[in-house]
Amino acid sequence: MRRIPIEYAREGDILGRTLYNNFGGMLLRGGTKLTNRIIIKLKKYGYYSIYIKDKYTEREVEEIIKPEIMTRIHTLQEELQGIIAASNYGKKIDAKDVNKNIRDINEIVNEIVYETIFNKDTLYNLHNISIYDDYTLTHSINMMLLSIVLANDSGFNMDEIKKLAIGCIFHDIGKTFIPIEIINKPGSFTDEEYELVKSHSEKGYEFLTNYTDLHAVSRNISLSHHEREDGLGYPRGLRGDEIHKFSKVAAICDVFDALTSDRPYRRALPLHDAMEYILASGGNQFSIDLIRTFSNSINIYSKDTLVLLSDGREGIVYEVNHGFNTRPKIKIYGEEGREVTPYVVDLMSLNNIVIEKTLHIFSFDMYSKIND
Ligand SMILES: [Fe+2]
Repeated sequence: MRRIPIEYAREGDILGRTLYNNFGGMLLRGGTKLTNRIIIKLKKYGYYSIYIKDKYTEREVEEIIKPEIMTRIHTLQEELQGIIAASNYGKKIDAKDVNKNIRDINEIVNEIVYETIFNKDTLYNLHNISIYDDYTLTHSINMMLLSIVLANDSGFNMDEIKKLAIGCIFHDIGKTFIPIEIINKPGSFTDEEYELVKSHSEKGYEFLTNYTDLHAVSRNISLSHHEREDGLGYPRGLRGDEIHKFSKVAAICDVFDALTSDRPYRRALPLHDAMEYILASGGNQFSIDLIRTFSNSINIYSKDTLVLLSDGREGIVYEVNHGFNTRPKIKIYGEEGREVTPYVVDLMSLNNIVIEKTLHIFSFDMYSKIND
């Protein structure tokens, strides 16, 4: 299974993952054979990319979070948003309702923390799980997963990881207090709008402090996830060690997931480009120690990615070599632009060959694509 831009979807490809709408309702079941009509519809719905299985990538990719659990968290998050939205229209917020909701979410999050940490294999297949069209909710879950992995590899203890994870889920809760048209506005903000968007940090923190029993270090993530190492972040302009380590982890994972997700006005970056961006921003925006760990922890060439090697061979990432994320085993399908009988090579033992770039389609398949 692999993710492709919707333009590369072809009649006959099999949809790899079920697509859901905002309300957890099924839009299109995984396993559906795509027709041109369906592909046009998906484009209309605003999907930039989808997961497919084709003859090169028939394997299942295990999901870290089972769809039922995703739906459950999703429903709870929406309930909470509903409570806040009602307060925007004057209804009083009842701390009892909020705390019950948060306790339920916390229970699920704790389970996810265990799953993620103890299932190393799944962890190396960390995929972007944007199957819901509601960006804010999906993003908070993705960002939490990345944070769990980074925190675990940075030596945080279990209690810390749990507190970090629940804080990540609510890091952008303050956005619920800001008009949705502004949050989703494509293009740039006016100065006034930008100030309003930035206020989500303080608004979220205030809400969590007034209405929940969450631990201070968890709440602090909502306040400080936009601070930067160089002091140019907001809301307080903290620098270096003044920023809590949970917020430093959250900041990296927040940006990485945002860059690798499709947005209404911008297409997702490939994982390795997003990683380049993160590495290049080290020191100014992010903690150098953490991004070093991050680049080792997060696998930028996940299973079934199509790649071009520096010697001109084309293939798919067949198996990840744990700890050596840029040197996986590759199943070769093409040599010098011609299809060959598939065979596997291990980049760990081919020192002079590197992955040059990722592909959406093999060069020897181009012709059939154009004629479709
Ligand atoms: Fe934020």
